[in-house]
Amino acid sequence: MNYSWIKAQFSNPFKSLASFVCKLMVIKGLVLSVVAVSAASAQELNIYSYRQPNLLMPFLDAYQAKTGVSFNVVHAPKGLVQRLKSEGAGSPADVVLTVDASRIAELAASDLLAPLNSAVIEGKVPSHLRANNGTWTALSTRARVIVTSKSRVAKDAISRIEDLAKPEWQGRLCSRKGSHVYNRALLASLVVHHGEAAAEEWAKGYVANLARRPQGNDRAQAKAIHAGECDIALMNTYYFGKMANNEKNPEQKEWANGLRITFFNQDDRGQHINITGGGIVKTSKRQDEARAFLEWLVSDEAQAIYAKINYEYPVDSTQAPSPSVAAWGAFKTDTLSIEKISAATPIAQMIIDRTGW
Ligand SMILES: [Fe+2]
Repeated sequence: MNYSWIKAQFSNPFKSLASFVCKLMVIKGLVLSVVAVSAASAQELNIYSYRQPNLLMPFLDAYQAKTGVSFNVVHAPKGLVQRLKSEGAGSPADVVLTVDASRIAELAASDLLAPLNSAVIEGKVPSHLRANNGTWTALSTRARVIVTSKSRVAKDAISRIEDLAKPEWQGRLCSRKGSHVYNRALLASLVVHHGEAAAEEWAKGYVANLARRPQGNDRAQAKAIHAGECDIALMNTYYFGKMANNEKNPEQKEWANGLRITFFNQDDRGQHINITGGGIVKTSKRQDEARAFLEWLVSDEAQAIYAKINYEYPVDSTQAPSPSVAAWGAFKTDTLSIEKISAATPIAQMIIDRTGW
């Protein structure tokens, strides 16, 4: 393994251009040394990633073993749009990888992405999971489901996301903050389906049902249900898989064991999903190599890695999920376009601010 993780330098983005970049050699999370290197060669790809390095490295390992292409990665939880804008034509970035619908669409809206021009991706990824203008594609999907306490909420008591705003659940919900991209995208889907006013009414009801102020990540909600603080929460499916199989923190297995997954709105529009996505940076000098990497990410080989390391669903709905993911049950997916969800996120954020989610 010889990845070089370029140290993010947000305080002065111009310093980190291809002319002379500082690289931190990181192996399994350990910073080993700092070296200065020149611009990447043709057998390298530079990735700007919102996705966590530990979730990215297995893909880079596999692709490097297969093709000899090596990678330099800038990982940042936010700010990559601003960074790419600042760097302009001199940006070393070839590929961007994101988590969530709105972030990849924001890159496209800022005119930072090149058309993918890939029959492979168009053949594999359904159109509602790709940009209308062809500049980005989903690479994997995850369902944001309702989880309930097996012992304190009757099976089938909740079947629709709309149910969570009903007064009968007062004091029973725990939630991550609404402004987190996962919740914001879910609310944006309600804005598209029901309109702004109805989505706001739902958010008001949802917030009124909270047992405590919004806090913590998805797993923290499972922990709170286990502790009896609340009975119902929203969760991305892969967190359920990570908890249920967690050998490092076996108490998380207990959190998962006490939960029931509900894929919601199965009798109408289907379960809301979100994506991880990718695109080619417009100014990349290695468009063909970048495209080949993204095409590999939607291949059966790479899709199996998404399932194996992070319990994600294949981007191609005709492909079967991995057995551990399939064990949670089959479900009907809401095929609302990710682009529409993304377009509604500013409205969703205003609702989140107004309702205090
Ligand atoms: Fe996540």
